Amino acid sequence: MKVLSVSSEVFPLIKTGGLADVAGALPIALKPYGVETKTLIPGYPAVMKAIRDPVVRLELPDLLGEPATVLEVEHAGISFLVLDAPAYYSRTGGPYVDATGKDYPDNWRRFAALSLAGAEIAAGLMPGWRPDLVHAHDWQSAMVPVYMRYYPTPELPSVLTIHNIAFQGQFGADIFPGLRLPAHAFSMEGIEYYGDVGFLKGGLQTAHALTTVSPSYAEEILTPEFGMGLEGVIASKAYNLYGIVNGIDDDIWNPETDPMIAQTYNVTTLKDRAVNRQRVIEHFGLENDDGPIFCVVSRLTWQKGMDLLAEVATEIVHMGGKLAILGAGDPALEGALFAAAGRHRGRVGVSAGYNEPMSHLMQAGCDAIIIPSRFEPCGLTQLYGLRYGCLPVVARTGGLNDTIIDANHAGLQAKVATGIQFSPVTAEGLLQAVRRAMHLFQDRKVWTQMQKQGMKSDVSWGRSAERYAALYSSLVSRGA
Ligand code: ADP
Ligand code: GLC
Repeated sequence: MKVLSVSSEVFPLIKTGGLADVAGALPIALKPYGVETKTLIPGYPAVMKAIRDPVVRLELPDLLGEPATVLEVEHAGISFLVLDAPAYYSRTGGPYVDATGKDYPDNWRRFAALSLAGAEIAAGLMPGWRPDLVHAHDWQSAMVPVYMRYYPTPELPSVLTIHNIAFQGQFGADIFPGLRLPAHAFSMEGIEYYGDVGFLKGGLQTAHALTTVSPSYAEEILTPEFGMGLEGVIASKAYNLYGIVNGIDDDIWNPETDPMIAQTYNVTTLKDRAVNRQRVIEHFGLENDDGPIFCVVSRLTWQKGMDLLAEVATEIVHMGGKLAILGAGDPALEGALFAAAGRHRGRVGVSAGYNEPMSHLMQAGCDAIIIPSRFEPCGLTQLYGLRYGCLPVVARTGGLNDTIIDANHAGLQAKVATGIQFSPVTAEGLLQAVRRAMHLFQDRKVWTQMQKQGMKSDVSWGRSAERYAALYSSLVSRGA
């Protein structure tokens, strides 16, 4: 089976969050199931710089008003189609925001263009290769099924995965003419969304199947609290919504072979983590004592509960814990965390910015990872934590709920516990969870047993890739 995957970020070419990890790992995990994927991605400067000897596959002289070229290239075991459109993607700044952190004003056109290019490839415009199915991810490529529905070309089956419903691609109705869709696409069944244009909304209406990245989140987004305005649309498609939990690339995230950590180890050589712990202590300027180091590797946003963390930092320190925080995002949250580090030198360390190697070292050297998310579609850092023996302390929501087994009495007795869950997601809830972690940490036998249990748990793509493959097959055999 041939699949066209369309994503605005794919590891290792470009990454701002978990979407990139998933879009990079899934095609590789699907290969054993006979799925051959080509992945369409925008030609951002970082992408154009990284790729070698691409082949021109398709010229699009007027892609929503600008010229574009589709290039094909193999990179890191992934078959890429790169949409080289300098007017849209050749910019300083990130994939979505400029150097000052502001959304590009023409994001609607940049990602409608990506989606339209995907729909053109799906329609067979690229000589020699036509997919059997299209898989789009999040709002940035949610317009692929919309274009497939409204353009006068044969329609293929399509899957749209919701990685985070908080980002919806909602724009003023004035952009509608620029999308070059027929007038009736601006309707309830199409992309009209509370009088605006909604990219994700349009994708939800037109894709043949919807998936999201954990079973719990699949249920949550049916409610007003988590659906963020789209719960009604999703409820009308609930018969076609699948919650499939993310896996991780266990070659890249393997403590036995990871080149980004100071000392490799496995479940039988856990003591060797001490070398990594020492590096973390040095990097974050922490005191070298026996108290646990709690780490955070996160976007600094309200979603991730980083305000709660800032609120309880002092109490964590008073309990004898240390904090090592790596994050980028909201300047106000960053400021609050830096202020905590200033108050508690040697106990709280903050590293601002995006640092992939450091994120590996922290999982390999810290004792626990705190994830106090208010909502979390899946979450990947708790899965990396499991694999690296860095105990997850997580909010009981979404994928965090589905992937961590709480160290309650029964969980400990049965020796199945892999971390700590807490609810409600408040400062007090978080604090109590840290208190429980501190308590468990005193009993090294129990702690080690939990680390080992986590390292043994299956966080690979195996079963989930099989579910995607089965979904693809059923859609292809059904026809669009
Ligand atoms: P989200 O996609 O919502 O940000 P996930 O947990 O799914 O959350 O994925 C986050 C990914 O980004 C993980 O791979 C994590 O290690 C990585 N990450 C987040 N912040 C940083 C950072 N400051 N430096 C390096 N990696 C980071
Ligand atoms: C989103 C979600 C995160 C999920 C990731 C990959 O960024 O916020 O929970 O793990 O997508 O699916």
